Amino acid sequence: MNSGIRHLVSIDDLSLPEILELFARAKEYAQDLRAHSHLARGLISASLFYEPSTRTRLSFESAMLRLGGGVLTAADMRVSSASKGESLADTVRVVSGSYADIIVLRHASEGAARLATEFSNVPVINAGDGSHEHPTQTLCDLYNLWVERGRIEGLHVMLAGDLRYSRTIHSFVYALARFGANIVCLPTPGFELPPYVVQRLREEFGVEPVRADGEKLGEIARSCDAMYLTPQKPHQLSLFTDAKGLAVEHVDAVYMTRPQTERYTAADMPPPRPMNLNKQTLSRESLRDAMLMHPLPRRDEIASELDEDPRSIYFKQAARGVPIRMAILGLLLGRVELAAPRAQVDVRYYVVAAGENPCPNPTCISRTENRHVKPRYKLASRFPVRGFCAYCSQELPARWVGCSTTGLYHERDSATARQIRPDHLVFFRDEPQALALGFTAAAKSVPPSAEPEPAVVPGG
Ligand code: CP
Repeated sequence: MNSGIRHLVSIDDLSLPEILELFARAKEYAQDLRAHSHLARGLISASLFYEPSTRTRLSFESAMLRLGGGVLTAADMRVSSASKGESLADTVRVVSGSYADIIVLRHASEGAARLATEFSNVPVINAGDGSHEHPTQTLCDLYNLWVERGRIEGLHVMLAGDLRYSRTIHSFVYALARFGANIVCLPTPGFELPPYVVQRLREEFGVEPVRADGEKLGEIARSCDAMYLTPQKPHQLSLFTDAKGLAVEHVDAVYMTRPQTERYTAADMPPPRPMNLNKQTLSRESLRDAMLMHPLPRRDEIASELDEDPRSIYFKQAARGVPIRMAILGLLLGRVELAAPRAQVDVRYYVVAAGENPCPNPTCISRTENRHVKPRYKLASRFPVRGFCAYCSQELPARWVGCSTTGLYHERDSATARQIRPDHLVFFRDEPQALALGFTAAAKSVPPSAEPEPAVVPGG
């Protein structure tokens, strides 16, 4: 609504220097959590939690109270007017009208926080949107690595468990890739990183998945194919072409996740046996000084016998959520200024010009809240024409694209398709869908002058 407001929807909304400066602030706050109660005096945060939470909501509320502000909390939206059918868009309009100065939002649909920014008069913080992203958990996780190891670049971080539905993992891999950490993926079979995440890692962060040799990790790696996410450097990749791939010699941090069973579909049933870390699985030399991390809540994936192990930092990790969230609130409320340059985020989102919503994700907010959402996309490439849903980041599975002004449709990898202005693009699964919407197949030789050069159309 107000394009000057700063939101935190994705971890990409912060530049790396900003993140490091936030860490320095958090460290300062952590020295005495009670010494900063002037920073947000007179301001109010609203927690809108459409999904359960212990850590994220309570640490945000604690952070706001410690900064001297006040808190409105809707911890269970089933007892709010959402249960009467009120949309997220209307709820956000109301709460950001005069009730609160910042909104902390958790929602089951991917892209909910992005949608909220379109209707909010105040900053929106994404406290987890479906299986998409959880940027403040990632800031907390990165802060823990930084506090414990003094750096992030060059660390070897192993991500284990449900990498498919875990939103904390998705934000974390983007950030680790940007910081230049080495990422080892150890997914529960069938719960690998989703294709759209791997694609982003490849295309935006120059990271290539390579098969890893998990021999030195012992039992933890036995049940799955280990992957290394490594910078795309040809000389490096050429080293990994053998069947076993790159050997994992040493790990700085093991980041364990819970099976996100609340998001499983019928196709994920019966759920596989979750990984279980215990004293024995962590006894390998390669894991000798690995920190054991978990965003929590845990179930059985970390045995309680490890709680007293000096490598286990998951409760410290949760405690550090308060100072890092104090820093985030201070920044977004305009009470903390950073010297670091802001992230250069590409905010060019285009409204899909006509036709059905092309987003393939049934739990994307563009599908679950379709009264208020105009399907939007981000252009990933012009040749072939490829777009990603602006809300949930999934690729639009369209082999055919049309132009809303000429009424012609084209194969997405044709020369004519690339002439279409992004704000005139329509996406089609197949030709019958294009024909049903009244589009006509383009002749192979449509002159480029049929469409002008694309204009930049800002989103928002
Ligand atoms: N880590 C995390 O998001 O925990 P909660 O679900 O308890 O907020």
